[in-house]
Amino acid sequence: EKVTVSLIKADVGGIPGHSTVHPKLKEKASECLQEAKENGLLVDYRVLHVGDDLQLLMSHRRGIDSEEIHKLAWETFEAATKIAKELKLHGAGQDLLSDAFSGNIKGMGPGIAEMEFTERGSETLVAFMMDKTEPGSFNFPIYKIFADPFNTAGLIIDPLLIDGFIFEVWNIKDRKRIFLKCPEDLYLFLSLIGAKSKYVIKRIFPKDSSPLPKDEPVAVVSTEKLFFIAEKYVGKDDPVALVRAQSGLPALGEVLEPFSVPYLVSGWMRGSHAGPLMPVSFKDAQCTRFDGPPRVIAAGFQISHGNFIGPIDLFDDPAFDLARKKALELADYIRVLGPFEPHRLPPEEMEYTTLPGVLEKLETRFEELE
Ligand code: F6R
Ligand code: MG
Ligand code: MG
Repeated sequence: EKVTVSLIKADVGGIPGHSTVHPKLKEKASECLQEAKENGLLVDYRVLHVGDDLQLLMSHRRGIDSEEIHKLAWETFEAATKIAKELKLHGAGQDLLSDAFSGNIKGMGPGIAEMEFTERGSETLVAFMMDKTEPGSFNFPIYKIFADPFNTAGLIIDPLLIDGFIFEVWNIKDRKRIFLKCPEDLYLFLSLIGAKSKYVIKRIFPKDSSPLPKDEPVAVVSTEKLFFIAEKYVGKDDPVALVRAQSGLPALGEVLEPFSVPYLVSGWMRGSHAGPLMPVSFKDAQCTRFDGPPRVIAAGFQISHGNFIGPIDLFDDPAFDLARKKALELADYIRVLGPFEPHRLPPEEMEYTTLPGVLEKLETRFEELE
């Protein structure tokens, strides 16, 4: 029995500022998705949020890139935008970059992670959602989960994991992709994905030796870059990811382990700063200090005949208290630098912010050197 899980998100307005989502937007979204469930388009859904991003988690039988599913998401965001505009929420409709839906939501502003797979006897799924950062922020944890035996004990202890995985990596600037196998291509893989603003892990596949169907992904990350769509700064591309776990895949705890370290990501204030990624509970999924720090939530599920059993709020747990404390210490430390790199992002990445508009004003004041 194949199921498709689609996680589609958009920032359609924040309260206050870019900090969080108004409950009325979530109510509206639930109403739209409930109707689609009753009409049989969806098997199930959950509406969540992290920071100012409204998250639609949907299960259905239509496969990926389904026009009906994408249209449903688009129209749901439009309905939420209508309320955001009435309430004068900040940045109402900010991620809806197109006027009319034309078959696929990709390239229209919202971020999307979706995969179709055969539901196993026990199907464990984690949906990760980040705010105030970019798709490449998943490179580090996804590498750790699926390729690093110091993180994932199963890579050396479980015969089903010992052969490793296949990684689909996208060059999001030049729109190219490459498939790399780990452990064989491990160093090549790292040579690319360390450059997280350019190379982004898109999907993970099982290898030939795995009993899982080879063409069905075991993890997928959203890779939409708003800047390349809008051709101007309209906020960071706050990413999401879906990761399947257990029974021949990394265990739930191996999937969560990389987040025990608040590693540095790009984004935060004005999409222009490096800062620690803080794992938080759903209730702390709002961005405050310096519009952050960048945050990640993890919603855990078992899938039963396409239904979402859950969510369990996985970072609502003292096991991640130390990561949060370290994140705050790191935030204090790096904030001291103010506008100086490496707190502020390097020039190549600042091109995708509002800074070029400022630098333009200086253009005529520069003099040529001898
Ligand atoms: C970052 C983000 C915020 C805004 C900042 C300025 O992704 O959304 O940090 O960039 O609050 O927002 P505006 O320009 O809307 O006043
Ligand atoms: Mg916003
Ligand atoms: Mg956001």
